[in-house]
Amino acid sequence: MSRVDPHSYFNSDQPLTSRLDWRFSVDFEGSRITGVANLFFDAPAEGALDLDTRGLSIRSVKTGEGRLVEYELGEPDEVLGTRLRLLLPQGTKQVAVEYETSPGATALQWLSPAQTAGKKHPYLFSQCQPHHARTMIPVQDSPRVRIPYHAEVTVPESLRAVMSAGNSGEKDGARPGTRTFLFDMPQPIPTYLLALAVGNLAYKAVSDRSGVWAEPEVVDKAHWEFMGMEEMIQKAEGLFGPYEWDQYDVLVLPPSFPYGGMENPRITFLTPTLLAGDRSLVAVVAHELAHSWTGNLVTNATMNDFWLNEGFTVWAERRILEAIKGREYTAMAWAIGRRGLDEAFERFGEDSPYTKLRTDLAGIDPDSMYSEVPYEKGARFVALLEKTVGREQFDRFIAAYIKECKFTSITTEEFLEFLHEKLPGVADKVGAEAWIYGTGLPANAPTFESESLKRLEFLSSGWSEGRRPESGEAEKWSPDEVLIYLQGLPRDMTLDDCKWLDDTFGLMGQGNYEILVEWLCIAAGSGYQPAFGRIREVLSSVGRMKYIRPLYKALGRTPASRALAKETFAAVKDSFHALTRRVAEEEMEAYPQD
Ligand code: BES
Ligand code: ZN
Repeated sequence: MSRVDPHSYFNSDQPLTSRLDWRFSVDFEGSRITGVANLFFDAPAEGALDLDTRGLSIRSVKTGEGRLVEYELGEPDEVLGTRLRLLLPQGTKQVAVEYETSPGATALQWLSPAQTAGKKHPYLFSQCQPHHARTMIPVQDSPRVRIPYHAEVTVPESLRAVMSAGNSGEKDGARPGTRTFLFDMPQPIPTYLLALAVGNLAYKAVSDRSGVWAEPEVVDKAHWEFMGMEEMIQKAEGLFGPYEWDQYDVLVLPPSFPYGGMENPRITFLTPTLLAGDRSLVAVVAHELAHSWTGNLVTNATMNDFWLNEGFTVWAERRILEAIKGREYTAMAWAIGRRGLDEAFERFGEDSPYTKLRTDLAGIDPDSMYSEVPYEKGARFVALLEKTVGREQFDRFIAAYIKECKFTSITTEEFLEFLHEKLPGVADKVGAEAWIYGTGLPANAPTFESESLKRLEFLSSGWSEGRRPESGEAEKWSPDEVLIYLQGLPRDMTLDDCKWLDDTFGLMGQGNYEILVEWLCIAAGSGYQPAFGRIREVLSSVGRMKYIRPLYKALGRTPASRALAKETFAAVKDSFHALTRRVAEEEMEAYPQD
């Protein structure tokens, strides 16, 4: 087998790490972590062991007995990073790699106090998926490798550390003015689920196994917003089987976090843009929670199989929401998802290989190809299977899938074998080959209809002919209905029309970021100057790529908005996450020269 993952030097012929004991200090002055990764093997190991690294400085490598281990660093590769080859002496059961990270580690974002809610303390958070764990620790950084871990993290004493693990206490650090936090994750996890955050953090429980972490300035608001988490966990357990990770907490990060959410086990990381003040954005929590089954229990073997993680999770998220809020609500979610999918098709072209579910990303940075395709096309494929065999039978299939495949990492082909075994003939019936290995959206994609959707589409499609909602009608719309209506409107309006929209929906004061950003995109593309201040504020604080990309794109339409984009980017780019910066740059590169 040897190399089995295009994004890792992991070699399946070599010894397999079976446990990690990780001890490190967080150095805010130097923007680096320094420490020791102790890797354990089930059986005495020997010979070459290839680990993934990127930008790590290796200090020493020793066996458990303290014998020096020979090692060599390879040539850095743009996508993979640098291979660290250890030459293990006979009978090695444990190896200790002493190292430090570089300030450019892409897994880590170091925030100044100004970038936090409290403005007094620095903050650090990690984002390892898909292949950034190697910038923070030398490991076999492929989702095929699963390890339990113990960690001891030393931080300045005014701060607290949290990790994707259970808390095992705290103690004074070895150096004065420091504190050490202990963690244990007994369940084996892929390395992309290693996670760390350090800051001024407070906790508030919503049930005996669920709660919110956030800066003290934010924790009450977050607690109110996510009060419904325990109900979600219970509904999810009813659908997918017992929750296997004991605790389910969320950490609400500062706004520069580049994603909406990240399913770090036991502690989902969330963007604070979800704090709408009306619980209208909890679908992201349902999504990250659903990953506790689809993703964290049954894991994609490589990024080529990423749709197994995300397609199943979007489908599962909507089943959880349907159980809580009903079908009318989820019909809106499917419709909003369809928009996102169409935008991805537009970005790549419908016959692009990046519109396949099973991708071939050898030599390609998976971050650069991130899109809604694995999510929304994947979820539609799962929904089609459900529709074809009927809900009862499909629910039994999903329960068996999770039960029989949990704590393993599987390829698309392994999934298809499982499908064939449990539901013979169904793959052929739905045309699974075309769905998985073909481009675009097959014609038998399921549709999700509702009366409200028809009405919204009727209204927005008649915008240019002057069609408007009846008086009093729009006030009764849910946030998702407002969003769908806005999504259907032209991107380029008269200033009077912009003003009408703004007044009718109170858009400038919107707490729901989905609606706010949709509106700001219309305003940017229409050159509506009263919105420019708000656009600048969003671009200066929010790192969520889902918002940054369309905003920079929309700002490309007029000379005045292009100037706003360039000026704002120049002012804030140094505080951006590397991923966010690249997305903004990509969009601005497509601007016409002024
Ligand atoms: N696991 C993803 C985030 C991710 C994917 C990070 C790939 C890095 C590489 C997470 O579960 C996710 O899908 N987040 C979405 C939420 C949405 C689909 C509800 C997001 O951040 O927008
Ligand atoms: Zn996800």
